[in-house]
Amino acid sequence: MGKNTLSITDNRTGKTYEIEVTDGTIRTMDLRQIKVSDDDFGVMGYDPAFTNTASCRSRITFIDGEKGILQYRGYPIEQLAEQSTFLETAYLLIHGELPMQPQQDDWVESITHHTFIHENIRKLLEGFRYDAHPMGMLVSLLGALSTFYPEAKAIRDPEVRKHQIHRLIAKTPTLAAFAYRHSRGLPLAYPDNELSYAGNFLNMLWKMSEVKFKPHPVLEKALDVLFILHADHEQNCSTSAMRGVGSSEADPFCAAAAAAAALYGPLHGGANEQVLRMLAEVGTVKNVPAYVERVKKGEFRLMGFGHRVYKNYDPRALIIKRIADEVFEVTGRNPLLDIALALEKIALEDDYFVKRQLYPNVDFYSGIIYQAMGFPVEMYPVLFALGRMPGWLAQWEEMLEDKEQKIARPRQIYTGYAKRDYVPLAKRVPVPAQAAS
Ligand code: CMC
Repeated sequence: MGKNTLSITDNRTGKTYEIEVTDGTIRTMDLRQIKVSDDDFGVMGYDPAFTNTASCRSRITFIDGEKGILQYRGYPIEQLAEQSTFLETAYLLIHGELPMQPQQDDWVESITHHTFIHENIRKLLEGFRYDAHPMGMLVSLLGALSTFYPEAKAIRDPEVRKHQIHRLIAKTPTLAAFAYRHSRGLPLAYPDNELSYAGNFLNMLWKMSEVKFKPHPVLEKALDVLFILHADHEQNCSTSAMRGVGSSEADPFCAAAAAAAALYGPLHGGANEQVLRMLAEVGTVKNVPAYVERVKKGEFRLMGFGHRVYKNYDPRALIIKRIADEVFEVTGRNPLLDIALALEKIALEDDYFVKRQLYPNVDFYSGIIYQAMGFPVEMYPVLFALGRMPGWLAQWEEMLEDKEQKIARPRQIYTGYAKRDYVPLAKRVPVPAQAAS
């Protein structure tokens, strides 16, 4: 093999530059030296939507999108889903290694005992309309936590950071459950610290007049696995929001609120909600071919299909498909599954999807399970956020520890007007639409 460099010849000047290649990557700052004159700014990279730009070096999550591989800290997602728990996986993501028994005990104890939230949060909750979307409430409540813990601003202090990480992982299920109960007009149910993480979440969602809520072990386990599958996914939109906002040294509650807001969108964590709406709209298996034709005509997208990174079956979708059978044994089969299976079959054989390497992603089957478990569709992105919280926090921590990182601040190519003089109102003439855009 030759040298680990790239030779770039600038045909404007005839000069050749040698640029280092590390890990298959060039530093775009190295392009700045390529200039036509001394006062030239230098060459920049243009990469809208960051489709080919690495924003960080990370040791947390590995994805091979071509092969459909996902690993957290080197451990395959299949093994974690089978053998780990969500809290242990959260520990792994944040600390880099699986815990030994004493660490595991301390971790679980600490998360379990931070589940309660300040009573004033209830007042905030009461301010939301009866039909407020629980994800909108979650975003606001996460941000509001910042006002309860002003010490969280000391983001350069590792001990302070650790405390906020515990708080966020512990309190997010409580906020999520409170948002749900509010949207249903139900009295709030407080955490039960004797239950597991997923079990307690189910308790806060579903507990009514019983003295002690007992989660169904199959549903508790299924939810725990679903959280594991969502726990991190490297530099996705919401994680980039977490890192981007965190890079301004905002406290982690504000950064997590921003990440949750990014997740809310229908192209990201809101897709699972859209999948269910789509399956309901398709209605029956016999309508599937006509629906797929409309997708191919570009009328709308097949929600839960396609991924920026995976050009193969999303490994999380495969695991979710397997869990579905266990859940349906308890809840009864969700009839929408047949429509989803028919959609998947047609799409996987159709040239349109094959050519574009569009496969089911994590959101395609998760909503069907959530629905069978009794969650209303508006809660799906909330469940996603709850699972993703440890990943956001691990990435935030890594970003703050990374000496190369500083405030995220992309460049632009300015395409607007050159300098022009202000025109007083009386002298203005209409600007043709194209010129104004
Ligand atoms: N249905 C139909 N066509 C699609 C779809 C889809 N779901 N996804 C992509 N395409 C087509 C797209 O129209 C384009 O075709 P053409 O080359 O003819 O213009 C081609 O495939 C490439 O699409 P793209 O928009 O350039 O791809 P992207 O990497 O920018 O988008 C995506 C990735 C996930 C936003 C997109 O696949 C999508 O909108 N999927 C549906 C929403 C969804 O399921 N999102 C959840 C993602 S997984 C979990 C998460 O990240 O939250």
